[in-house]
Amino acid sequence: MKRATIFSAMLLASTPLAASPDLAPSAPAADPSPPEIPEALQPTGRWSAYQGGNAQTPPMGWNSWNAFKTDITEEKVMASAQKIVDSGLADLGYRYINIDDGWWLRRRQSDGRILVRTGLFPSADTGGAQHSSLKPFVDNLHNMGLKAGIYTDIGHNSCAQTHGPNRKNNPVGTQAEREIGLKGHVEKDVALFFQEWGFDYVKVDACGITRYGPNEERVEKYDFRPVPPLIVQENISRTDIAGVKALYAELGSALEAANPDGDFVYSICNWGTANVLQWGKDHGNLWRTSGDIKAYWSKMLHVFDSASRRALYAGPGTWNDPDMLFIGSGEFDENHLTEARSHFALWAISNAPLLIGYDLREAPQSLMDIFGNEEVIALNQDPAGHQAILAFDSDDVQIFVKTLSQRGDKAVAIFNRGQGTFEATLTADHLKFRGDQPVAATDLWSGEELAPFQDELSFTLEPRETRVLRVAGTPELESGVYISEIPGRVNVAADGMVTPFPDPRVYRPVDPRLGTRTDARGYYPALGGAQADQSAFGGYIRMGGKIHLTGLGLLANSRLEVRNNAEFSQFQALVGVDDASFERNEKVQFRVYGDGKLLTQTDYVSVSDAPTEIRADITGAQIVELVAQASSGKTAPFLVTWADARLVK
Ligand code: GLA
Repeated sequence: MKRATIFSAMLLASTPLAASPDLAPSAPAADPSPPEIPEALQPTGRWSAYQGGNAQTPPMGWNSWNAFKTDITEEKVMASAQKIVDSGLADLGYRYINIDDGWWLRRRQSDGRILVRTGLFPSADTGGAQHSSLKPFVDNLHNMGLKAGIYTDIGHNSCAQTHGPNRKNNPVGTQAEREIGLKGHVEKDVALFFQEWGFDYVKVDACGITRYGPNEERVEKYDFRPVPPLIVQENISRTDIAGVKALYAELGSALEAANPDGDFVYSICNWGTANVLQWGKDHGNLWRTSGDIKAYWSKMLHVFDSASRRALYAGPGTWNDPDMLFIGSGEFDENHLTEARSHFALWAISNAPLLIGYDLREAPQSLMDIFGNEEVIALNQDPAGHQAILAFDSDDVQIFVKTLSQRGDKAVAIFNRGQGTFEATLTADHLKFRGDQPVAATDLWSGEELAPFQDELSFTLEPRETRVLRVAGTPELESGVYISEIPGRVNVAADGMVTPFPDPRVYRPVDPRLGTRTDARGYYPALGGAQADQSAFGGYIRMGGKIHLTGLGLLANSRLEVRNNAEFSQFQALVGVDDASFERNEKVQFRVYGDGKLLTQTDYVSVSDAPTEIRADITGAQIVELVAQASSGKTAPFLVTWADARLVK
């Protein structure tokens, strides 16, 4: 049976609002004692996510870590850089050449300057043992038309240092000399990296505030300064979220001050801890959503899952980062092209950074062709910056749909996560296209144009295969757009999460080195965050037993900023408490603002009230704000929804 038939009853709820039979009319609120509006829910009339740096599209380039760990040399880095230029990858957008851990020798105590390991970077040997500079290295990259990135840590020490002095190329000297991290040196190091040396990108790790606690064996054994950890990696409750955020915010200000032209990229790397999934977008250009990727399938699933449901938190200038590419190694090498293509396609469609982590000197053409697939890259670099959302979600197969800047164009990834061959059906509903009009589709791996289809089309997927399509069709909304189709134009200014819960949907891999000796749990506190076309804890948006295939699902005490850019004249939605809400007694009020001015609001409603239609004239507004405020601050997870939320002309 066709999905459209199965869902005919449900579809009633997503037909245009005027035709929907169950609408309670919008009424002005008349609550006798409305609660005060807390600061987080006050309309600002502006876009409050981070706007610094130079990352309007996801960063692309190369990073040394996955290929070489700390065994890096200037020669190795430059060889991959040269290959990027010679092969044409640079012309396709790969331009950041980033060195990771291992470049430093020690911090000079007379003036705090970091010295480079010139044995590895000969061009840095600019003045004897006491003076070194990465400027010649950066200049070389710039002269090749590339940009340069560097690595540091927000604490005193780096991640490779946790292995002690025996790890290849770790900093040397006294305890203080080995403190090459930013702690206590932010302004000086930022000036060195960006103003003196000319770097364009910085990745900022967090081992220094995580792994050097006074009780850690390594601290005494390897003589590190003990630092009470701000981050307890597996435990959000014991992590000092505000403290971590403050350090990264301080660094952000220093980067802006040192780069008046704004030409820098700020990459936060604290592996999805400290609730960075929620606040990364307020302080940096990209933030790691998980622990490190490894070159095996299940770990790729793990890191991907940590970012794949976070579309509403990303957009131009601010990107979820599920880590660098591992194509070329292990289960993503030239003998695993299906896996390598899937990895690339998933990163591309979800607007992850495309940072190659492979020794390109060795790269066979089959892998260069994956990195160089122009059509797939174009999805990632589409200027609208909408991360794909999950149009179908399961542990076996997922369907991702990404709205492209050209109206009526979308990208689709149909992803077979498992071991078996699978038949998957893509429907017009998934695409929010009209099913009675033809949909044109091109397969971006084969280049083949498929015969135009109506309603739905089925695909047989090999194990671990991802079919990537670019499709063009007739949007369901004739002169408008569902807000869930344009997540890059939404900023989740407040998502109402009081207690961040680890997301159990993130795949739990067994580390082949450790086997079943350790816990495989993910610790990324994302469950309950704002969702496109799902309720806050996953699953359909549902009110009064009725499913809504589209809309925004989140918690009460939330505020969304939507870029209207004076393009649309009406906001419409059907609002209320989601059936899945844990809170069954409290009430919530929905308000819509245009450029900071209240346009309309509902009564305070509870789970037993019928959904309320809400409409607002947003003509001329740049920023529309959607606020859902609970009648009291003390609530169980209180799931609310802006079902069918749309902007129309
Ligand atoms: C951490 C990061 C990695 C890499 C290493 C370097 O593990 O997550 O990406 O930078 O540190 O030591």
